Amino acid sequence: MSQKQHPNLPPRVRLAHTPTPLEPLPYLSARLDGPNLFVKRDDCTGLAMGGNKARQLEYYLGQAVAQSADTILITGAVQSNFVRQAAAAARKCGMDCHIQLEDRVPHNDATYMGSGNVLLDHLLGATIHTFPEGEDEAAADANLEAIADTLRTQGRRPYVIHLGIDHPPWGGLGYIDAGREIAQQAQTMDIDFNAVVVATGSGLTHAGLLAGLRAAGQRVPVYGVCVRRDAVQQKARIERRLGEILDLAGLSRDTATAQDVHVEDTWLGPGYGRMTDEIREALDLGAGTEALILDPVYTGKVMAGLIGMVRRGDFKKTDNVLFVHTGGSPALFGYEELNKAVARD
Ligand SMILES: Cc1ncc(COP(=O)(O)O)c(C=O)c1O
Repeated sequence: MSQKQHPNLPPRVRLAHTPTPLEPLPYLSARLDGPNLFVKRDDCTGLAMGGNKARQLEYYLGQAVAQSADTILITGAVQSNFVRQAAAAARKCGMDCHIQLEDRVPHNDATYMGSGNVLLDHLLGATIHTFPEGEDEAAADANLEAIADTLRTQGRRPYVIHLGIDHPPWGGLGYIDAGREIAQQAQTMDIDFNAVVVATGSGLTHAGLLAGLRAAGQRVPVYGVCVRRDAVQQKARIERRLGEILDLAGLSRDTATAQDVHVEDTWLGPGYGRMTDEIREALDLGAGTEALILDPVYTGKVMAGLIGMVRRGDFKKTDNVLFVHTGGSPALFGYEELNKAVARD
């Protein structure tokens, strides 16, 4: 799996099927009677049902391979896509995976706890741990370190993918690649984008994408739709991550700056992983117009944001707006309330 890189570039393994398609959304555009909408299909990255984390994992697994690790450790919400794709990436590199599932949302029904991503985690043969405090990133990372210490005493060579802000954002490099890819596709398709809309959670996707687009000469505004924190906290997080990612990539800090960071929390709702009427509408509209299968935690919220921005009059009818589909559809099957709603319809 591993691949030799230029000595100055961070190590990387290939995991994602790229370039992912960039496609127009004519029926959704017509339905909303707004700008010309397009989608970047990062749900099609391939790794165990796809998603944005495949690109990020190329750099974490690159580090793990370079350090001769034999086990990956990662923490996330019960229906985490990152955790599911990390378990898959470990398998693709001949490693084991320990995953820590945090209580981050008030769901604890059998569907949430056992279906969707959790079913895939089991199928991938990950060793599953639980952690009760889903809002304390540092504590979650510390508990992962304790598991790693135990593994070391057993002669294993663990590599920990940390969630917390105090650890290097290697995954952001994967979204520099995506930003360059979008710039290339825009040029080939002869489209000037007026806006890009993407989920902003840990923020590595948002910050990396922004860095990659700017590095490729694209001045298009990138709007991060908050999925976990409010706009004030998230903007500070993205500004910090942006600088760190530029450093890791060996790019100048002037490539993209705080003025480039736009975040929107109008569609955050009651918080991470919680359904809203706007998300439900977005799931229906995406599937019902373009067969775009979105998810209740990330892309449904981003699509709700995009629909809201269109209705708010943020864009001109002649604008070209790119929605970044970051995957996550397995979580659909973990939401009992969606299953019930469909049964009722
Ligand atoms: C499907 C999906 N989209 C978007 C995101 C947000 O990405 P980031 O954590 O890099 O902000 C995640 C994070 O887990 C995700 O699973």
